[in-house]
Amino acid sequence: MKFYQLPPTERRTELAKDGADLLDVEPAELERLNEMSENVVSEIVLPLSVIKDALVNGKKWTIPMATEEASVVAAANHGMSVFKKAGGVTAESDRTGIYGQIVLEVGDAFSLKKFEKAFPDYIALANQEFASLVRHGGGLKEITAEQKGHLVYLLALVDPAEAMGANKTNAILEFLAQKMEFFPGVTAKLFAILSNYPSQITMAKVKIPVDLLGKSQEAGLAVAQKMALLAKIGEEDVYRATTNNKGIMNGVDAALIATGNDYRAVEAASHALAVKNGRYASLSHWAVDGNFLTGEVKLPLAIGVVGGSISARPDIRQSYSILGKIKAKELAELIASVGLANNFAALNAISTKGIQAGHMRLQSRNVAMNLDATDEEKEAVYQLMISQQKYGESAAEDFLKELRGR
Ligand code: MEV
Repeated sequence: MKFYQLPPTERRTELAKDGADLLDVEPAELERLNEMSENVVSEIVLPLSVIKDALVNGKKWTIPMATEEASVVAAANHGMSVFKKAGGVTAESDRTGIYGQIVLEVGDAFSLKKFEKAFPDYIALANQEFASLVRHGGGLKEITAEQKGHLVYLLALVDPAEAMGANKTNAILEFLAQKMEFFPGVTAKLFAILSNYPSQITMAKVKIPVDLLGKSQEAGLAVAQKMALLAKIGEEDVYRATTNNKGIMNGVDAALIATGNDYRAVEAASHALAVKNGRYASLSHWAVDGNFLTGEVKLPLAIGVVGGSISARPDIRQSYSILGKIKAKELAELIASVGLANNFAALNAISTKGIQAGHMRLQSRNVAMNLDATDEEKEAVYQLMISQQKYGESAAEDFLKELRGR
């Protein structure tokens, strides 16, 4: 039997023979995981954290985030708490649909004009074939085409209703391509597959009174000006832009993972959007407007609240139980708001005390827990690290020596 055909327990035995040290996983859990993927041998577990009391479009939400990086959750909560004091985030998702691409090879007998005239019929045929999607409020919305020599590039816009829609879009595209192959002048179908090009664009905005950013109006204004300058550098300098966007994706990916969404698709689309003007730039924009700091982010969020592995995964279902009843549009608006909150927190920290102080403080628990010491000693070292603001490994070791010497 080939490795991939073995039951997961036997795959584990094979790897163990080669020295792998795998976690114990309950047999039933291993079986469940095995149904989700290929060559399964164990599991990776992430902490599920939340943003408490996020205020988005006038409604309070608890938003799940799955990440191993403590500072990402802390930053999101900090950003959202400032946004809440400022009246909350305003977000809007244009769920117009996701793109699918078909490329056909055509001969001299092909007429683009005639082909375009047939598009309404193709749309009707597809919507008849995929009637259940139409019943759920979605469907094939539009087809456009461009001819480049002997190739015709088609774009189909599919409204996936409450799902991300990748599988459905691919099925619609294959159905269409099969029909289109018979159109006069079409000689071959080259491919038919969804495109991860930016779609389902979602915008989140905040307007923060500067006095929330400092001890006085004047101090707050100075912080806001530094933050806006840092953001402007991100719009012009690719080194800063990349890091700025990483900070946004810190929050976005964590929320995507917690809600069972395809973060690879969102990442790919976000990078395409970041380079839309021919130069990679920041996905967010911050400015000072009188006594306010205004911020906004625009993200392509092809996400869903049903479909994919969402209902099959108990770990993901718990996130939806935290969120409560939610539409895909609302979830996209929350995720864009989280990205903006993480971006705000990063710009704010960099413009004031620097990023390292907060990061190190949050990492210090891990540093203390890695010491070769008893649980009581580790806790005591951690408390000393926090109270004395010394967060590195050597500081932890010194504290341990000091404790033992007492
Ligand atoms: C670290 O994970 C993310 C930041 O570097 C983002 C930024 O610099 O904007 C803090």
